[in-house]
Amino acid sequence: MRENFETLNGGRKGKIKRYGDKVIRPANEWSSNVHKFLDFIIKEGFNFVPKPYGFTENNEEILSFVIGTAYNYPLPEIFRKDDMIIRSAELLKKYHKLGKKYIKVLNGSEKWMLPKVDPVEVMCHGDFAPYNVTLIDEKPVGIIDFDTLHPGPALWDVAYAVYRWIPFTSTENPDHYDDIDEQIRKVSLFMDAYNATLQQREDLPKIMVQRLNALISYMTAQANDGNEDFAKNLEDGHILTYKNDINYISKNERKIINGIKKG
Ligand SMILES: Nc1ncnc2c1ncn2[C@@H]1O[C@H](COP(=O)(O)OP(=O)(O)O)[C@@H](O)[C@H]1O
Ligand SMILES: [Mg+2]
Repeated sequence: MRENFETLNGGRKGKIKRYGDKVIRPANEWSSNVHKFLDFIIKEGFNFVPKPYGFTENNEEILSFVIGTAYNYPLPEIFRKDDMIIRSAELLKKYHKLGKKYIKVLNGSEKWMLPKVDPVEVMCHGDFAPYNVTLIDEKPVGIIDFDTLHPGPALWDVAYAVYRWIPFTSTENPDHYDDIDEQIRKVSLFMDAYNATLQQREDLPKIMVQRLNALISYMTAQANDGNEDFAKNLEDGHILTYKNDINYISKNERKIINGIKKG
């Protein structure tokens, strides 16, 4: 089985391999906690996530291959459709309902890649983005890449999802697709499909800014610590993009809130 593998490229290159119906990924200190959570949500009936099968002798995790197609940047045009935004929000909501149940299983001393964020409401995926779902018939169905799993507020995950799925990036960023009004209209679709509360709608831009600032701090600390994947992200200018997007979101905070409030 070991000879017949295919290298899978996502955020990192050349580290993830597929052997038939299994995927082998580098394991980390938090991986066994991630496995417990995945087993829990699978038991609860959510089958479109990787099923854990333990570890190899080389400190790699063994997971099931989730059905569907995973995409990376540049994303195909289907990701721009309203239907995709709505279904991604519905998928996140479904996932959070199970993530909420897991909170009472935690003992508080678990190790995660990202720090716990208060108030803890759900298990945040931490990177719920187009590149970490699988599509079947152009619809998001599976969720993969749970390294960033950690306890936190539901809005913490929603904020990052909105940033990636709309995507809510500055119109000066060459990768943007829509103008501000169209971006806000799509955020509104997302928040409606997620069934967000009025409070979550009011807090969204502020939490998006906090989430992006946390990402910048994390990436910088990791790069300074010698993590090559993050050092490469820094070299590629990702932090400058995040900073520009933080300014863009802050500048448009009122407009966003007014555009996504119900009624
Ligand atoms: N369990 C899985 N099921 C299906 N595909 C997977 C799975 N894990 C990884 N992949 C594939 O490998 C790629 C990279 O994996 P991912 O877990 O997202 O790692 P990275 O941290 O590099 O983004 C994904 O884009 C996807 O194509
Ligand atoms: Mg990924």
